Amino acid sequence: MCGIVAYVGHREACPLILKGLKRLEYRGYDSAGVALLNGEGLKIYKKKGKVVDLENELQNKDLHATVGIGHTRWATHGEPNDVNAHPHYSNHKKLAIIHNGIIENYDSLKQALLKKGHEFRSQTDSEVLVHFIEDIQQETNCSLEEAVRLALQEVVGAYAIVLISEDDPTQLIAARKSSPLVIGVGENEFFFASDATPIIEYTKDVIYLDDNQVALVRQGELKIVNLENERQAPYIQKLELELEAIEKGGYDHFMLKEIFEQPRSIADSMRGRVNREEGTLQLGGLSDYMDKLAEAKRIIIVGCGTSWHAGLVAEYIFEELARIPVEVEYASEFRYRNPIINADDFVIAISQSGETADTLAAIQLAKSKGATIFGVCNVVGSSIARETHAGAYTHAGPEIGVASTKAFTAQVTVLTQMAIAIAHKRGSITEELYQQLLLDLSAIPQKVGQVLKAADRIKEIAYIFTYARNFIYLGRGLNFPVALEGALKLKEISYIHAEGYPAAEMKHGPIALIDEDMPVVFIATKDSSYEKIVSNIQEVKARKGRVIAIVTEGDELIPNMVDFVIEVPETHDILIPLLSSIPLQLLSYYVAVMRGRNVDQPRNLAKSVTVE
Ligand code: F6R
Repeated sequence: MCGIVAYVGHREACPLILKGLKRLEYRGYDSAGVALLNGEGLKIYKKKGKVVDLENELQNKDLHATVGIGHTRWATHGEPNDVNAHPHYSNHKKLAIIHNGIIENYDSLKQALLKKGHEFRSQTDSEVLVHFIEDIQQETNCSLEEAVRLALQEVVGAYAIVLISEDDPTQLIAARKSSPLVIGVGENEFFFASDATPIIEYTKDVIYLDDNQVALVRQGELKIVNLENERQAPYIQKLELELEAIEKGGYDHFMLKEIFEQPRSIADSMRGRVNREEGTLQLGGLSDYMDKLAEAKRIIIVGCGTSWHAGLVAEYIFEELARIPVEVEYASEFRYRNPIINADDFVIAISQSGETADTLAAIQLAKSKGATIFGVCNVVGSSIARETHAGAYTHAGPEIGVASTKAFTAQVTVLTQMAIAIAHKRGSITEELYQQLLLDLSAIPQKVGQVLKAADRIKEIAYIFTYARNFIYLGRGLNFPVALEGALKLKEISYIHAEGYPAAEMKHGPIALIDEDMPVVFIATKDSSYEKIVSNIQEVKARKGRVIAIVTEGDELIPNMVDFVIEVPETHDILIPLLSSIPLQLLSYYVAVMRGRNVDQPRNLAKSVTVE
């Protein structure tokens, strides 16, 4: 949440920062701002709305500067308006800060500063921090770097910050704790950003700052220290990301591009792991743990939102194949309810961004109790990926649309591979089934391609339901989490109220909602609960509900019972979510587009939820 971009070097800072902020808008987009330093001093420009609104505001201004900081905000403290937008000046306007995270003890710091005569212009916690830093610097007559370290020792909360100072135009100071910050290292130039996307077109050499580290760029030199002022050796990594991966590539929206990328992203999440010809499956990241995993007594899966749904799918698959009890927990609940965690538990943390604050805290808790933690993350080098003992990246590539699509199917693909590998090691599946699953899994990318061919048909269905006020999604077994995911996709981007339920639960309450105005999406593919879900469809039709059914190709029964049908190819039961979730992504996308919604940046949401 909140995007940070900063630059110091020889280029024009403002256009570079604005371009970077646009790439980070998925992190927050209620206001944006820049602070630039040139011969005329430290100037801040900020505006409620998107980066493009800020751009309009900046027209005809002298923006020449080769050092600057910029921010795109997702509001926590104080409503989204021009004043609360970042950057924020210090009391004497000599310093400016951009901040991602939450300063939890901001109020006590603010009260103390008010008594000293500080005047605050915004309602934000971030402004308090820059006042506090300036205050320390003045009181102790120390360097800015020293003041930043001393201030951060007093701060409770999460932060990625960058500071710019009128007193030194060659300097930027940054620090992080629990919020991501990447430093790009160029030729006599440095970049700071919340992720690598604003940086890749300038340099592929990056440093991921660790918690409690402070980075100082001064006169073209980079120095990293910890809060105790001990020098830290910078670890420069080469980015593997390509520029095309973060551009729309001719699609109207990132979300549509990402939906259509799934044949490739699912294949990528199996690449180098499943070898169909040799009939082998190897997850390099887990290999050191396979013997222990084969003896596992329990697996706990933690995640939020869509990642939690991927966890629910995994629960079915792990229990079915590996016969290991699995508990799936909302990370936000797990971390606060004093859960029973044993040292021989395995915890799998699922997170696209690898930065979700609740998931990070959940695994830190489990780690402190001695559990072994695996990560299933998409963003390489992310906080969760670094906090875990081992794991498997999903390799879905950057997901920029706020609604998760290809990340979900890549998570499910990786978790399915984990379950198959562990089941094989435990001997809980036959060699024949193992080989069959590898073949069926390898065929999924091509089958997803087939499902995507139904896009136009799904668009027609979406058109009919554009103005529906509610939707119900029903599924059984592995299609129950798919129903939850379908409902989440629809509500987050179209703002239509949607509920996902296990189909059999319907008669315990939700059936009261069914009438001729209620669209009901049944995920009714041919699996072990097919007959049961046919009965549930009949119950809805008997009450005049309008049914859209996702069925297996060649189904001759359901198409005669329902209003609209979308077919997916046949596959092994445990792989069905990888196909049945795709039409639901497209349905929500087209409904949202027809309702004129901002599909990639739906209101109130942000891609990377770094606050709890
Ligand atoms: C929904 C969505 C969110 C995320 C959730 C967890 O489309 O994107 O529900 O799934 O915020 O995010 P990650 O996976 O980054 O931990």
